[in-house]
Amino acid sequence: MVKPPLRVAVAGLGTVGAGVVHLLRQNAGLIAQRGGREITLAAVSARDRGRDRGVELAGARWFADAVAMAADPDIDVVVELIGGADGVARDVVETALARGKPVVTANKALMARHGSALAQLAETKGAGLAFEAAVAGGIPIIKALREGLAANTFTRIYGILNGTCNYILTTMRESGRDFAEILAEAQRLGYAEADPSFDIDGIDAAHKLAILSSVAFGSEVDFSGIHIEGIRHISALDIAFAADLGFHIKLLGLARLTERGIEQRVHACMVPQAAPIAHVEGVLNAVVAEGDFAGRVLLQGRGAGAGPTASSVVADLLDIAAGRRTPTFSVPAAALRKIPASPMLHHQGAYYVRLMVVDRPGVIADITAALRDELVSLESMIQRGRAPGEAVPVVLTTHITEEAAMRRALERIGALDSILEPPRMIRIEDL
Ligand SMILES: NC(=O)c1ccc[n+]([C@@H]2O[C@H](COP(=O)([O-])OP(=O)(O)OC[C@H]3O[C@@H](n4cnc5c(N)ncnc54)[C@H](OP(=O)(O)O)[C@@H]3O)[C@@H](O)[C@H]2O)c1
Repeated sequence: MVKPPLRVAVAGLGTVGAGVVHLLRQNAGLIAQRGGREITLAAVSARDRGRDRGVELAGARWFADAVAMAADPDIDVVVELIGGADGVARDVVETALARGKPVVTANKALMARHGSALAQLAETKGAGLAFEAAVAGGIPIIKALREGLAANTFTRIYGILNGTCNYILTTMRESGRDFAEILAEAQRLGYAEADPSFDIDGIDAAHKLAILSSVAFGSEVDFSGIHIEGIRHISALDIAFAADLGFHIKLLGLARLTERGIEQRVHACMVPQAAPIAHVEGVLNAVVAEGDFAGRVLLQGRGAGAGPTASSVVADLLDIAAGRRTPTFSVPAAALRKIPASPMLHHQGAYYVRLMVVDRPGVIADITAALRDELVSLESMIQRGRAPGEAVPVVLTTHITEEAAMRRALERIGALDSILEPPRMIRIEDL
């Protein structure tokens, strides 16, 4: 028997919404074949009805009220592409789920803040909640974790989760220019928003990391437990020193289970040039999952944009059309574990530190004394150039040490008369 078409409503017709409409139209034939039934665009909603969105909306009912659309009995599935952790987007998703309708969303902010509660609601109502597009755009990492790698215990998951930051850091390295200049260029090219803070302060990457951790570790989504730093403080000088030391600087999101709980952190990292992820450049994203049986798996691709994001949204729709369903965060919502956040002060790792030092006798002895007193062991120290009485950069790297000890040492070093700027610290990752 031929199954009736799946009637889809799309809430939000911006970059991603228009991309989804375009994809559904262009690949309608193969989508019907692969999903076992047609997927039809039954309804749409956005703010401005008059705006030309460059896509064919004929045949779709227009709703000024996206929440009313989500409640409409003639809609089978709701696709939420409005954005924002609360407000209309959340109302749309909750309204659909409460009526037992499956939801597909690309909304990482919503899933990072309310993912556990929404998963619970979806399960209670017997509806699916799919969000492949919310993490790393066109990279099918959620499917990979929940299905292809489902037999593994994950030891660690990490990735380049923000294309804007990766573009800025890549371009800084290639051009030798400073952060502010490259950010302005990225804004001109449309790679960075007019207000870039969500991206460059690490919030966007943290939203995605919170979701990834939950899927990988079967834990409740814990955005507030993430240690978040951005990339505003990364200078051309640090990038040049990193290259000399055999590293590329990347903004990574990393999560792993420790004895104290779940360690989730987003910050700039020194990544060894030999690590494959060091070579994921420009606006590309990548995610590495380390499974106990599969080993290390790296997926790389475009993390944003109409096409890649629509690809993930429609893949979720295909699952719904075909009747395939996996628990939202890989295990039933009731089984999600509440794992405490492992405090960043207990993080164990190696560190890169750059100091701007007055070039005069005895300075290095003061620095090494502070490190010795805090039991921080030095691996290397570089001082380039000599300018007696003036500031010169001194770069040091440490062996593995505890973050708390490193911070105490840097506080003491920063207070020395001969240190002219706050010390710059970047964590070195073993990847
Ligand atoms: N852009 C990407 O590459 C990308 C990648 C991955 C995930 N995402 C996520 O996908 C979602 C959408 O992103 P986007 O870039 O497509 O955003 P966008 O271009 O700003 O589009 C947002 C859309 O929502 C509509 N909208 C706003 N308020 C509404 C309301 N009250 N009722 C109905 N519609 C409303 C807007 O209508 P008007 O057009 O009429 O103003 C617009 O069409 C976000 O959650 C984002 O984080 C985006």
